Amino acid sequence: MTSSNICASTLFNVEGIVAVVTGGGSGIGLMITKALAANGAHRIYIVGRRDDVLKETARKTNPEVVIPIPGDITSRESLLRIAERVESETGYVNLVVANAGTMGPRPLKSAPDAPDQQPSISEYRAHALKTPMEDFNQTYAVNTTGVYYTALTFLDLLDAGNQKGNMGTDWRSQVIATSSIGGFSRLKGASFAYNSSKAAVTHMMKMMATSFVAYNIRCNILAPGIFPSDISGGIFANVGSGPSTVFEKEIVPAERAGKDEDIAGAILYMVGRAGAYLNGSVIVVDGGRLSTLTSTY
Ligand SMILES: NC(=O)c1ccc[n+]([C@@H]2O[C@H](COP(=O)([O-])OP(=O)(O)OC[C@H]3O[C@@H](n4cnc5c(N)ncnc54)[C@H](OP(=O)(O)O)[C@@H]3O)[C@@H](O)[C@H]2O)c1
Repeated sequence: MTSSNICASTLFNVEGIVAVVTGGGSGIGLMITKALAANGAHRIYIVGRRDDVLKETARKTNPEVVIPIPGDITSRESLLRIAERVESETGYVNLVVANAGTMGPRPLKSAPDAPDQQPSISEYRAHALKTPMEDFNQTYAVNTTGVYYTALTFLDLLDAGNQKGNMGTDWRSQVIATSSIGGFSRLKGASFAYNSSKAAVTHMMKMMATSFVAYNIRCNILAPGIFPSDISGGIFANVGSGPSTVFEKEIVPAERAGKDEDIAGAILYMVGRAGAYLNGSVIVVDGGRLSTLTSTY
């Protein structure tokens, strides 16, 4: 007879968890929210700037479990207000998914009047310099700085989650950042701001994993490949396909974009007992996409 501690129903169980998911109302954050809600989470606080998007997600998922909190993760005051609200309602959290993210300005890929040609050096320079520095900085504000302040804001509540002990004795509170395979890719034409902000957040989370050992709080990184969302719309347009269309094997070896199940599987592994030994780890879920790119590890 198989002992119950290694059965899938035990290993991937997230029942009773209290989670905060930034950007939980759309795209990959919504996939995470749905996966936790479908598997017995007690509360999932979803954060974003668009109240209507959050409310719609709560309504469609499970309004008793999924709680919208409008807020901006680039504002310390906003983050503190969100944490105060969670504290007043539940008093602890087990999991923070710092998933909110934004795209960044892109360099010029081809000559303005000849799509098949490399832009001249002056065209390339002029296009890049036309972009205000604020646009580049904003990408870092959301993708890197915002993740840092999100994690810091919830330290007390994550600690309270450990004291509560509702996830079992072998399980410790966790921050997961949604980074990206963009943080490893050197793809020509990709956004310098976006890709480097994702490389930064991946390294920052590893540093946090080391620093938070003293407080029994784990930090891990989810690095998705191509999933349908507002952010990735441009990628689908570039390869001339819709979210459900087949990708060439040379672009994505799995020959498709990521789906709900791919994020759900990864998140249930990372969050459940199965992933309780992860700390400072990067989980790449990309259908092999990185293998087709000039990449760095
Ligand atoms: N889709 C992909 O292929 C892919 C691949 C790799 C990594 N990722 C990463 O996955 C994460 C989610 O992106 P997505 O693809 O699912 O796109 P998305 O649907 O546009 O999600 C981004 C989410 O972040 C929220 N957000 C942005 N700025 C915010 C701010 N200042 N404060 C609070 N919330 C904010 C947005 O909500 P509001 O606009 O309402 O604030 C939105 O819900 C991002 O970190 C992204 O870099 C995506």
